[in-house]
Amino acid sequence: MVAVSIEKPDDHWEIETLLDTAFAPGRTSLSSYRLREGVAPVEGLCLTARDEDEIGALAGTIRFWPVMIGEKATPSLLLGPVAAHPTRQGEGIGALLILEGLEHAAKAGWERCILIGDEPYYARFGFKQSLAADIIFPPPTNPNRILAKEITRGAMAGVSGDVKRWDESLV
Ligand SMILES: CC(C)(COP(=O)(O)OP(=O)(O)OC[C@H]1O[C@@H](n2cnc3c(N)ncnc32)[C@H](O)[C@@H]1OP(=O)(O)O)[C@@H](O)C(=O)NCCC(=O)NCCS
Repeated sequence: MVAVSIEKPDDHWEIETLLDTAFAPGRTSLSSYRLREGVAPVEGLCLTARDEDEIGALAGTIRFWPVMIGEKATPSLLLGPVAAHPTRQGEGIGALLILEGLEHAAKAGWERCILIGDEPYYARFGFKQSLAADIIFPPPTNPNRILAKEITRGAMAGVSGDVKRWDESLV
């Protein structure tokens, strides 16, 4: 069993190591990282999953960043990175972190969430390519992997354009 907690500053290097282990080398060159540069992740939504034994090894991590979409600078969450340790995949840890993160997001008033990922996995959480059809990510991004979820019903209606880095002055 794992316990899910809000990420703490002391978790930082363990999380980076897990992400380096779970993703292919060069993960920070992915276009989604350009949207995160210089912007803090959303406090209270970044979670860890740790074993409930005395060692408490890190088994999974999820983070969310704020982004803006299109000319109207519509606020959205960007889900990711999310990872389960390679020796712990398929145990439901990814699902636990995604569901709990989205629950916190809804409580915090976020209306929509986007990500780059595989629809066959993320569809179970309500993410659809069709909801993101009018959204453009910084290159290089495979448009088929851009997914969106309406946290509140209809929240993706009319949302279109370039996904941009969060800018506090436009909020
Ligand atoms: C993707 C990831 C976070 C899922 O976490 P997890 O704890 O292993 O997944 P869960 O236990 O919640 O779900 C397992 C199920 O998802 C499926 N699944 C996992 N990754 C998938 C993918 N990319 N596409 C389709 N199905 C996928 C598994 O086949 C399994 O299916 P089943 O329930 O029918 O057996 C994890 O595999 C991981 O860390 N991968 C490497 C990093 C990564 O790619 N992160 C996501 C970037 S978008």
